[in-house]
Amino acid sequence: MDRTNRHTRRNFIKLSALTTGVFSIGKFSAFASPKAEKPIVVSTWRNPDANAAAWKVLQAKGYALDAVEQGAHVPEANPKDTSVGYGGLPDREGLVTLDASIMDEKSNCGSVAFVQGYKHPISIARAVMEKTPHVMLVGKGAQQFAAAQGFKKGNLLTKESEKAWKEWLKKSEYKPYHNPGQHDTIGILALDANGKLCGACTTSGMAFKMHGRVGDSPIIGAGLYVDGEVGAATATGVGEEMIRIAGSHTIVELMRHGRSPQEACEEAIKRLISKRGEEKAKELSVAFLALSVTGEVGAYSTNNVFEYTQTTQREQVVIKSDSYFK
Ligand code: GLY
Repeated sequence: MDRTNRHTRRNFIKLSALTTGVFSIGKFSAFASPKAEKPIVVSTWRNPDANAAAWKVLQAKGYALDAVEQGAHVPEANPKDTSVGYGGLPDREGLVTLDASIMDEKSNCGSVAFVQGYKHPISIARAVMEKTPHVMLVGKGAQQFAAAQGFKKGNLLTKESEKAWKEWLKKSEYKPYHNPGQHDTIGILALDANGKLCGACTTSGMAFKMHGRVGDSPIIGAGLYVDGEVGAATATGVGEEMIRIAGSHTIVELMRHGRSPQEACEEAIKRLISKRGEEKAKELSVAFLALSVTGEVGAYSTNNVFEYTQTTQREQVVIKSDSYFK
């Protein structure tokens, strides 16, 4: 199947008329080819409000790094989003622990992992990148740094998430592998009007994970990778799988060697599946999203549930990704 056909066969859902800011949902299928555009922002899953926040920056000819940070803030602050920031489902001890990373067009990067009590780990990650000689801070050290930087501390466990945790405790079964339809980590990639490409990734990680578990999102090269001369990639799903193949870095390297973002995402998913074996991989929800420095987008997932949100001057749409298992 050639790439054009693949794109025409996808389902597109138009979300907004960007000029009016009014959100409306209606199906359309006029998108005939993966047309490269700039500026552009893409994010994992159905995240129209995150994209709208990022678009505000991009439309004003702002910096892609500000765009992805502003975009990431939206689910981080949303108590109804149970896999990112405030309202995230806790670990087995009932503690919400957050991971995040951010990268700019020069491959400068910052990340935090296993952070408790701060709603916006993406901004702490950016501060690590911009204000320290390091790339990654974890746990208490990250929290000390956040306090010193003036970030506001607070309780992240909502009543709803606490209730879900107490319910989970009754059986205490950990089944991270099959979560069809689950809205997961947000990875957000933006190319601004000046051609600068940046990315961010933020999550509360797997619900009811072991205390201390860290997934792919804060691991540079696994959950996020950006090379401003080539492209960017981000991941969502079972983080252990992305870490095993350094998924996001793999995709950017494939793009460097001539693959389109779509081809690169497909190759990374196929590599992951070949390492796991098809039987086991069927149970895994893993997806990649990529954006080239020319504004071309690619996405691919293991199972048939992944969708992503794309915003350009023309429109804001939710696009159902192609997948290995149909
Ligand atoms: N992809 C998020 C995580 O595994 O933590």
